[in-house]
Amino acid sequence: MKIEEDLHPLFVEAGPGTTATILAKRHGARIVSKAFNAIDSKIKTDEEFASIKKLLGRLWQNGIEIDMSALFKNSNPKIIHQVPTYAYNKKRYWLEAPLTQPAAFVTPIPINITTLPENNQASFNEMSNYPDRKDFFIEKVKEILEKTSGIDVSATNPLNNFMEIGLDSLILTQIASGLKKEFQLPITFRMLNEDLDTIDKLAAYLDKNSAMQVPAQQPPQVVPQNTQQRHSQQFANPLAENDALSLIAQQINLLSQQVMLLQNGNTLPQNLPVQNPPPAQFNGSPKAAPVNGDDGLTIEEKTEIKKPFGAIARIETKTDGITDEQKIFLAKLIEGYNKKTPKSKAYTQRHRPYMADPRVVSGFKPATKEMIYSIVVSKSKGCHLWDIDGNEYVDALNGFGSNFLGYQADVLKKAMIEQIEKGYEIGPQHELAGEVCKLISEMTGMERIGLCNTGSEAVLGAMRIARTVNNRNLIVAFTGSYHGIVDEVLVRGTKKLKTFPAASGILPDNVQNMLILDYGTDETLEIIKNRASDIAGILVEPVQSRRPEFQPVDFLKQLRQLTTEKDIALIFDEVITGFRSHPAGAQALFGVKADLATYGKIVGGGLSLGVIGGDRKYLDALDGGFWQYGDRSVPEVGVTYFAGTFVRHPLALATAKATLDYLKEQGPELQRRINNRTTQLAKRMNEVCDQLGVPIYIAHFSSLWKIKFKEEYPYHELLFSLMRLKNIHIWDGFPCFLTLAHTDEDIERICEAFKTSLQELLDAGFVTQQKGLTNKEPNLIVEANQPPVAGAKLGRDKDGNPAWFVKDAENEGRFLKLSEN
Ligand SMILES: Cc1ncc(COP(=O)(O)O)c(C=O)c1O
Repeated sequence: MKIEEDLHPLFVEAGPGTTATILAKRHGARIVSKAFNAIDSKIKTDEEFASIKKLLGRLWQNGIEIDMSALFKNSNPKIIHQVPTYAYNKKRYWLEAPLTQPAAFVTPIPINITTLPENNQASFNEMSNYPDRKDFFIEKVKEILEKTSGIDVSATNPLNNFMEIGLDSLILTQIASGLKKEFQLPITFRMLNEDLDTIDKLAAYLDKNSAMQVPAQQPPQVVPQNTQQRHSQQFANPLAENDALSLIAQQINLLSQQVMLLQNGNTLPQNLPVQNPPPAQFNGSPKAAPVNGDDGLTIEEKTEIKKPFGAIARIETKTDGITDEQKIFLAKLIEGYNKKTPKSKAYTQRHRPYMADPRVVSGFKPATKEMIYSIVVSKSKGCHLWDIDGNEYVDALNGFGSNFLGYQADVLKKAMIEQIEKGYEIGPQHELAGEVCKLISEMTGMERIGLCNTGSEAVLGAMRIARTVNNRNLIVAFTGSYHGIVDEVLVRGTKKLKTFPAASGILPDNVQNMLILDYGTDETLEIIKNRASDIAGILVEPVQSRRPEFQPVDFLKQLRQLTTEKDIALIFDEVITGFRSHPAGAQALFGVKADLATYGKIVGGGLSLGVIGGDRKYLDALDGGFWQYGDRSVPEVGVTYFAGTFVRHPLALATAKATLDYLKEQGPELQRRINNRTTQLAKRMNEVCDQLGVPIYIAHFSSLWKIKFKEEYPYHELLFSLMRLKNIHIWDGFPCFLTLAHTDEDIERICEAFKTSLQELLDAGFVTQQKGLTNKEPNLIVEANQPPVAGAKLGRDKDGNPAWFVKDAENEGRFLKLSEN
């Protein structure tokens, strides 16, 4: 990493194969485009020289001076200076063939048009941008990849496999269905993982199997003169032809600009002359994060966009880069894991035929396949779980944050048993519903409360309400946030302000009223200001569960001010932070009051409950607003639709009431205590990372904590397997939570398991030491209007963490990150 940062080198794998190249690429986004292999393992011997020449070309593109005289010792090469080093505007650059004929033969000879073959398709195809049919499919495939993933692949080497490009299994699934639809061929996810795992192979397959016609393209705009003369003689009226083509090109250009505008959430004003659409691109303050230059995506953004989304099933079907010693380590680990949990494994296999469960497959890799199963649990108490093999675990996950008082907490058990005795009828108004809403309103300070079943439903409801009341379409959300499983929030955005679905089956059209912006930057505030008249609401996860160390208080305050000025609904998604950080959630902690807020997890006391809270102005859209008996009052506000069979389930109401009563009685001191305990836990675990010198740290906010890796390690998830083997119930990729039930001894067990597991991973070379590293959790309670040096801009570094950047005086358009010291 040090070499990479300081010297910006290129990495070349000298021998045949790609093993070292793939390993190098895994060390960060910047290396992906800097590591090259010389000879692909599968090519034939007679293609090796071509492969090496290709490598030299890539090195030259990256600024390395190549000694051509050594390469072409026995021939007389000619250097062509005017050709760009990247695919630019798909122009043709004709080479002059060496003159082997007397000059007289190349003088243009007038050709009588009537002597041309009737079907002049061949000559038109000759002018196509796709002299080779396969090239057409390469472009087509790239188009589909880019459209589906949001990753710019225009300059990607077609020989790179999809994993190297950064396409995860989720995106490949989407791509497989896109390809199937486009080419009417049975292309599957599996094929993209195996035989068709590069753009090149896929294009070759399409070339062979697709019945699609390769369209003739418009003639090149710039051609050397003698070539132009030659072609111009082949058409009866070249000028008229070119006019027609350029007219069509103009129309297409206009249309595509309009589509882009609409995609970006702009509506075209009715009378706007289409010839002159307004720019869709933000052109406010300078960009805060370093920008790669070619496609407008930051390096961090490219990395971010490649990451699997939320709790998606992560599946890899290839194994690479494991040493023999590591294989032995893995075999021992798997053996121990299987020996400890045989019933869980057998259970998983037994039920797989009919139980479709993404959690069970998540983390699949051939090398660790034999321990890819969930621990199957049969009972719990406090923060402890027991599996069907009789093992006891300290739970670090705690119901994804829904277990706060502890499993089987006396107050919850009592409330539930009483309610079961009384009944849990669905439909009639329940006596607890009003009380629960009143308690939530009192504790959170939200004027009115609506109930539903899950956090996702609450988010959906809040967005619908914001659109209803503000009569605008666009919802802004932020990169790195998680808001549940509704189509519109499973999205990714790009710097070009385009929005893409983040999962298969979500239609691109369904997410075009979402605008995804960086969280916590000046640029974001500027974009919101510019787009304010389109925005119904801004959906914020005030502290993102993936990045709990980032608490942009000042940004949130500015956002509050801006949304008030522009009459935009500020929606806080407090599904995790609500009742956890403070009785009134992150809003109380940060001193920022939202117009709408969503809650879930803790408030249900272990049962499924979602809550929408908010100002009268917004919540009245659910029931028409206040009216009373005995006078002429009526519900005056227009309503939207929001309902569900199991809304206000009596058992969930009973556990919610018991939880709220308990939290109210204890007061904010309860949250302060558990927050402090979590800080202590994070501190201790960070000390372990420091002692071992590994680039790992524990981030936390309130009672949420998360193990984060500063470096990418191909088998980092083994840390979590090892901890489970040591009786800590923890999963890769999920935030962890402390509960009120965790004792000092439980915390000790977590720290100890973490330490020994990490040491084992280090010894086996699955993680590496870094000298001079301090892993203290970054202090990222960011006051955005107080830059450490004048003119610094807030952006995100390659790990996605906020950082201050200044302009790089030596490299126009690039930025340098300010160090924390
Ligand atoms: C911030 C946030 N919002 C919404 C949700 C969705 O909640 P649910 O899983 O209850 O649908 C989650 C779930 O983890 C969340 O963390």
